[in-house]
Amino acid sequence: MLPLRVDVSRETITYPIEIKSGHLKNIGSFLQKLKIGTHAVVVTNPIVRKHHGNTLLSSLREAGFEVEVLEVPSGEESKSAVVAFELIAKIAEHHAGKDVFIVAFGGGVVGDLAGYVASAYRRGIPYIQVPTTFLAQIDSAIGGKVAVDLPFGKNLVGAFYHPKVVYSDITTLLTLDKRQIRNGLAEAVKYGVICDKNVFFFIESNVEALLGCNEKVLTEIVYQCSRIKSNIVSRDEREEKGLRVILNFGHTVGHAIEAACDYQEYHHGEAIALGMRIVAEISLQMRLAKEDDVNRLNHLLSRVGLPERIEGPRLPEILNRMRHDKKFKSGNNRFVLMTGLGSVKVREGIDPQIIQSAIEKYSGNS
Ligand SMILES: NC(=O)c1ccc[n+]([C@@H]2O[C@H](COP(=O)([O-])OP(=O)(O)OC[C@H]3O[C@@H](n4cnc5c(N)ncnc54)[C@H](O)[C@@H]3O)[C@@H](O)[C@H]2O)c1
Ligand SMILES: [Zn+2]
Repeated sequence: MLPLRVDVSRETITYPIEIKSGHLKNIGSFLQKLKIGTHAVVVTNPIVRKHHGNTLLSSLREAGFEVEVLEVPSGEESKSAVVAFELIAKIAEHHAGKDVFIVAFGGGVVGDLAGYVASAYRRGIPYIQVPTTFLAQIDSAIGGKVAVDLPFGKNLVGAFYHPKVVYSDITTLLTLDKRQIRNGLAEAVKYGVICDKNVFFFIESNVEALLGCNEKVLTEIVYQCSRIKSNIVSRDEREEKGLRVILNFGHTVGHAIEAACDYQEYHHGEAIALGMRIVAEISLQMRLAKEDDVNRLNHLLSRVGLPERIEGPRLPEILNRMRHDKKFKSGNNRFVLMTGLGSVKVREGIDPQIIQSAIEKYSGNS
């Protein structure tokens, strides 16, 4: 199979997204041609290293790179400013004066962390994204947003800093558990709703194959979603033109649900699925969306196995979190609402009563 390429460009920035099954073993020779540096610092976690580390590291070494591996524990806790500066200190100590580049080898946590380290060390050194979760391949590795968390908030320290390549090997997804596949599928459904109904239909026709990790179908969906994200980012890299905002479909409410549950109960995609159900309901109540389309979205999310209701009595906490969100002030809130499958509209100043009743509809066990 030929590698698929999608270019993300903004003025002079263009880089490929290489999507293929089984090309991780060729990454060394690929990077040689890229002339990216001589010393590779691979940032990863023990789980990813155990499953796929040998393939990556052998390929880099065989191509003549000096390789150092820096492991961080698996989980969001590693995406912290403290861990980032520990990594920077190690790189500075071990590789001063060397032609060093970073390989972000893992899911979104490692990608955001290693990308931030690359952006900050010596005011920016080259790095590449080798995403190994479905969510990272279709979303977090693309678009140049890198960040780490502070104790009082997620993604508070960060930059826009693009990798030299996003190198997505579909076979790395075969070791993910089903919950992680579902998590990524929530974002894939989102792409379908916000701008490409054919992607939505493709997921509808291939739910079982996707959940069963059929490589051909996974390759197609990773390609389609990468194309959509890179297109949006290319036209509005820094969220200045109001285009990138549509990527937040389902996210204002989803983030509030994640925060109200202290980031314990739901994976990101699961909270976003609930967020999408709720904004679809708001869209319906505002007569922007048709009932058939909203039902179709809800049905697909259920077939994927994403949550149908917010567990427990969370409504007051969710509303509280949303009120703390600057965008949610009365008369000033801003939501991405669906107007059909494949089209959305940004609306401001939505009646808080409509928002509350939509959240209520999906709250509790009743
Ligand atoms: N930068 C962006 O634009 C952007 C966009 C969306 C999300 N994010 C960030 O991404 C992060 C979430 O990313 P995620 O969902 O990939 O989570 P993650 O990085 O925590 O990975 C999920 C789990 O899968 C494991 N894992 C990774 N690859 C594996 C593989 N191939 N086989 C088996 N297990 C594997 C990890 O060790 C981890 O336990 C959050 O921090 C979020 O803020 C960033
Ligand atoms: Zn998301």
